[in-house]
Amino acid sequence: MTAPRPATVTVEPAVALAGRVGLPADKSIAHRAAILAALAEGESQIVGYPEAADPQATLAVLRRLGVPMEERDDALYVQGVGRYGFTAPDGPLDCGNAGTTMRLMAGVLAGQGFASTLIGDASLSRRPMERIAEPLRAMGASVTLTDDHAPVRIEGGRLRGIPYRLPVASAQVKSCVLLAGLLADGSTTVVETTPSRDHTERMLGLPVLDLGGERHVSVDADTPVYPRLWVVPRDFSAAAFFLVAASIVPNATLELKGVGLNPSRAALLDVLRAMGAHVAVTNEREHGGEPLGDLRIHAPDGLVGVEVGGALVPNLIDEIPVLAVAAACAEGRTTIRDAAELRVKETDRLAATAAFLTAMGAAVEETKDGLMIDGGHPLRGATVESRGDHRIAMAAAVAALAASGPTTIRGADAVAVSFPAFWAELDALAGGGLVAEVSGRKPEDGKG
Ligand code: S3P
Repeated sequence: MTAPRPATVTVEPAVALAGRVGLPADKSIAHRAAILAALAEGESQIVGYPEAADPQATLAVLRRLGVPMEERDDALYVQGVGRYGFTAPDGPLDCGNAGTTMRLMAGVLAGQGFASTLIGDASLSRRPMERIAEPLRAMGASVTLTDDHAPVRIEGGRLRGIPYRLPVASAQVKSCVLLAGLLADGSTTVVETTPSRDHTERMLGLPVLDLGGERHVSVDADTPVYPRLWVVPRDFSAAAFFLVAASIVPNATLELKGVGLNPSRAALLDVLRAMGAHVAVTNEREHGGEPLGDLRIHAPDGLVGVEVGGALVPNLIDEIPVLAVAAACAEGRTTIRDAAELRVKETDRLAATAAFLTAMGAAVEETKDGLMIDGGHPLRGATVESRGDHRIAMAAAVAALAASGPTTIRGADAVAVSFPAFWAELDALAGGGLVAEVSGRKPEDGKG
């Protein structure tokens, strides 16, 4: 992967926002489609594999493990090597900024007959990894970390299935254990008390039982992994920035087509509606077990504050920074609780969100596990930092649309992790002249 170039952009207040938003394909589903295609025996076709750095990190790791793939006719063709057909890598496997790559691939590598090491960039190297090491060790792998962190050194081998109760609502940990379970003797059951995104179980067609309010997801070595066609929906988490933008820019109207609407991901829709947003969903359909639809959103007269917490939180975990922007533009108080996981994302997203909103004049209080936002204080342009986090850069850009005066966003290149065309897309929806590099140039669709 090429290192993203440093970039600072300025975003002007938006006077209009209209049109169809070009969204990237879903990053979570793409990682999984690539890994499942590699584990299958035979050729899979993935339509719409994203250019973004995170899903590309998964492809780079799979290639290093001897998985042949090529892009042809706008699709990615992966020659699956089967569960044990990977070859030992000749050095560390670089996951870049991608927690999903590191945690899901750790599950696959734990069951291989060779040693491997997963590394990542500075941000990923600060994120907690004991949460995957612990269940993988219980399954029989040897996993060594430095404190709680990468590099993740794995001595793979024969695994045994385990029952595993997730100590934290994390789809990455769940998926790591389920993927290891595909390679283990006996069955593996993951139990969640607070459901997290369920792409892995949907894509593998795994049995899910609701027992006493807990979800039990089971897998074993006989669970089939077929080569197949995957069509990746557009990313709801990328759509979220535009759903909020169209809810806070007067007279905005935006259309978003083919967006993934998996309920374990799309809770922001319900929350925005409760705040007063006008979102219509049409053409609802399904592909590969994943629901999708078209969205149309236009600016409401105003938004009101909400309370968000409990089981809802994992279903909008990545959308909380931009939800906080909507809250800052709403009348009344918004309270976000039970979101301490945001402190261990690409950056501490509670601190980073509070910092950029406060710099822009919002009344935000950071709590142990959330944010308290008193809306209605007018936002003003300021200089803010992405802290190298794609979602913070994009959330700050949305806040800038509703501010008085231009906002300067440092570390704007971070968007390449999930949405390389974000700046160009935002600028186009405003009819141009909205986003500029600090040099004065219009930012290109910069793919890292
Ligand atoms: C993801 C799960 C979530 C999410 C991340 C992608 C996934 O992380 O924040 O962006 O694809 O499984 P956790 O599982 O750690 O909550």
